[in-house]
Amino acid sequence: MTALAGSSSPVGSGAPRDRAAHALWGGRFEGGLADEMEVLNRSLDVDWLLWPQDVRGSRAWARGLERAGILSRDDARRIDAGLSKVASRLEALPGPAGLPEEDIHTVVERMLIEEIGPVGGKLHTGRSRNDQVATDFRLWGKDAIGELRDRMTALVREIARKARENSDIVMPGFTHLQQAQPVPAGHWLLSRAWPLVRDLEHLRAVLRECDVLPLGAGAVAGCPFNVDREALAAELGFGRVSENSIDTVSDRDWTVRLLFGAAMTGVHLSQLAEDLVLFSSSEFGFVRLGEGYTTGSSLMPQKRNPDVAELTRGKSGRLVGNLVGMLTVLKGLPTGYNRDLQEDKEAVFDSVDTLLVVLPAMTGAVGTLTLDRSRIEEALGTQMLATDLADYLVRRGVPFRQAHHVAGALVRVAEDAGRELSQLTLEELNAAHPAFDGDVLAVFEPAASVESRAVRGGTAKGALGAQFEALDRVLEAAIASP
Ligand code: ARG
Repeated sequence: MTALAGSSSPVGSGAPRDRAAHALWGGRFEGGLADEMEVLNRSLDVDWLLWPQDVRGSRAWARGLERAGILSRDDARRIDAGLSKVASRLEALPGPAGLPEEDIHTVVERMLIEEIGPVGGKLHTGRSRNDQVATDFRLWGKDAIGELRDRMTALVREIARKARENSDIVMPGFTHLQQAQPVPAGHWLLSRAWPLVRDLEHLRAVLRECDVLPLGAGAVAGCPFNVDREALAAELGFGRVSENSIDTVSDRDWTVRLLFGAAMTGVHLSQLAEDLVLFSSSEFGFVRLGEGYTTGSSLMPQKRNPDVAELTRGKSGRLVGNLVGMLTVLKGLPTGYNRDLQEDKEAVFDSVDTLLVVLPAMTGAVGTLTLDRSRIEEALGTQMLATDLADYLVRRGVPFRQAHHVAGALVRVAEDAGRELSQLTLEELNAAHPAFDGDVLAVFEPAASVESRAVRGGTAKGALGAQFEALDRVLEAAIASP
């Protein structure tokens, strides 16, 4: 998918202006568009990339008109052959620069007429650019969503692979970015995969929503010819046909839900990125990013900067922006098609493009990162086991509230003495509560703490193994066809 790549800016495209550029609707106009309006009006530099969908939709429409008895078999055949020549011509063009038309639909029709003469003018019978563009865009959207799903799945799998590889490293789990309780590093990594699995579930729903045929809705009131829309849908690979022609030409809800999905994924990637920035800092040193995903400094020879993560974090801004922008475009639109809707494509193309760049980079970054076991283990303070100490007392019948108080007091004793919680003697422990026994020392083993949390979703080996299986299961369901 190369949405905006290669397109020139509308202002700089220098398109020659003549009446041919507006041949689609020029009949009731005498003069041309004002120069400034020409620039504002032109969407070709953005919708250029919809040409394959426009040709595909047009071929299906010509067959639909033929089946409805509006086009003769011969006309339909000439139009079909002409459209395939148009496709070859478009394929050979580097881009829209220099073309005078306002949009891709006009380019395709002009070229068709150039190829086969006036009979090409029959193609637009019963159709409007309103149902046409909605169809083109949904066709594109379905492919784009498919591609996004593939890239996101690849990232989830890479995170899961890295998690498996690092299941036996115990690291601090954080709350408020303070050491909280020990967790397996694999558990931390998987915590960054689950949000993406939810995003995949969302994308599956977006794909279903996008999978509705607009063609046949006309400009606003439907098509006066007896075109079989179910057959059109089947031919174009749409699962359903839209039910209300007015809604159909103005419905861009799927784009909002796609933009929301992209923004949500952007936020999730940004959070993962932030973990990587933090954990790869010299202060933490938990993570070492692959050299191919870091950059040096032009000034400071020692630097190895986590640019992959910073850029990912930064890109989430535009993903959120595109969502808010599109919602704002839609808010307050009156009934039917309105030209404001043309803004939909730039937002969606940009969000899709952005994710298609960010996702593979993050997949590579995750795949090549290594965890520094010794730095991580060095960081494990036994103060983090204060909850386990309280739980020890709970197992001996002490009410948790009291046990919490006792453990808190012991943390205080250790801190005042500049010692680790694990360095307190049994006498010191017993001074706080008589229920402590010699076996309390086992509490100060982070691995034992991890192993004690065997509930579903917890940190014990068995629970983690089950989590890997659950992830596979839920992922499979999320990437199944909708
Ligand atoms: N470029 C328009 C869009 O993206 C499609 C054409 C409809 N234009 C019109 N004047 N009715 O929505």
